[in-house]
Amino acid sequence: MTTPKKLFIKTYGCQMNVYDSERMAESLGGQGYVETSNAEEADMILLNTCHIREKAAEKVYSELGRLKGFKTHNPELKIGVTGCVAQAEGAEIMRRQPAVDLVVGPQSYHRLPQMEARVRAGHTALDTDFPAEDKFEALKGRKGPARAPSAFLTVQEGCDKFCAFCVVPYTRGAEASRPVARVLEEARQLVERGVREITLLGQNVNAYHGAGLDGSDQSLAQLIWALNDIDGLERIRFTTSHPNDMSDDLIEAHGTCEKLMPYLHLPVQSGSDRILKRMNRSHTAESYLRVIERIRAARPDIVMSGDFIVGFPEETEADFQATLDLIEAVNYGYAYSFKYSTRPGTPAAERAQVAGDEADERLQRIQALITRQQQAIQNAMVGRDLRVLVEKIGRKPGQMVGKSEYLHAVHIENSDAAIGDIVRVKATEAKRNSLSAVKRS
Ligand code: 5AD
Ligand code: SF4
Repeated sequence: MTTPKKLFIKTYGCQMNVYDSERMAESLGGQGYVETSNAEEADMILLNTCHIREKAAEKVYSELGRLKGFKTHNPELKIGVTGCVAQAEGAEIMRRQPAVDLVVGPQSYHRLPQMEARVRAGHTALDTDFPAEDKFEALKGRKGPARAPSAFLTVQEGCDKFCAFCVVPYTRGAEASRPVARVLEEARQLVERGVREITLLGQNVNAYHGAGLDGSDQSLAQLIWALNDIDGLERIRFTTSHPNDMSDDLIEAHGTCEKLMPYLHLPVQSGSDRILKRMNRSHTAESYLRVIERIRAARPDIVMSGDFIVGFPEETEADFQATLDLIEAVNYGYAYSFKYSTRPGTPAAERAQVAGDEADERLQRIQALITRQQQAIQNAMVGRDLRVLVEKIGRKPGQMVGKSEYLHAVHIENSDAAIGDIVRVKATEAKRNSLSAVKRS
């Protein structure tokens, strides 16, 4: 028996990268690789990278500088860069860091096995194509035990919206949706592996329109209803959505589909109509608030989540104040705020930039407000009955850890539950980033 080769993957960025990393590991499994959590013993290291902000992209080069040293101890080690930096920078990565053997973009990683053979033969391998064939068709089915009872499943990729700050349309390509039959097949495979919750992923997931079982165009809501019929699948979530694609049937599903969880990530980026226009967002603050009003009418207890950029070019104090006002109006359970990062090749990169210290100060103010809201919403869960999907064993004896329907982390004390169980609990205490709970009698 040959000893398996070891694969170490480090994932940066979004949940789609987490999904892609799993698929890459599975695909290299066919080449005799098993995963390791120790980079030093790896025969292949892949950095699955993110290009969304400059910091994320630069981290990759400092990590590569560190990893190249491992080659002195293990001359067989191969290093690869995958994901959005690979797509954006291609061969430039190998020029900047010659220790890199392999560069593959997010749309061509199904070719990794052939590329691996090439690098093992002593060559370098580069592939940043947007191939005509569908990578998902080329990848094998999902086999083996699930890593966790909650899994990601990519149903849509790419973006046609071209927000002025964003690299995604360039790194992930044009919008494309997987056919309903393929999504159902993968979801069933995941459930057979022990998965109870699936988060449908797409850069614009609610713009999903895939071929249905009868060939007709199906919306995300229709896909969710089809998934709802899978026995053993208990929870459905989806992310990330665009406000303009919150269609009537999707809003309605939040009120009527029991498996669809009461949590929605709906980025708005700014509360100033002037800035939203300059961002090419094609919606206003008011239209965003109206969408949320309709979602809350369908599902009053829904927890809202959002993304914000501060210090976008030309943003004034008044524009920023409008963003704070919008946050006050929405009351977010979760929100993520970022300082604008200039991305070469995007329209906003050419415009007058906000001074760094001013953007830093705005970031602090927005984060203080968001933290206040998040904590208040989490604290309001104390005393309530929740249903928790148990994901892992806790640190304290008898403690199990999972997520509520609202996505709060919950520590269940003195629990006899197993990983994968869905337990009815009563929240007893709110900590900084989690709730404590006991089993409901
Ligand atoms: N600078 C800062 N934040 C950005 N985002 C996207 N592009 C940039 C950028 N150039 C943020 C947006 C998006 C999230 C994934 O990252 O808020 O919703
Ligand atoms: Fe980063 Fe966007 Fe690529 Fe995800 S899709 S890895 S967020 S650049």
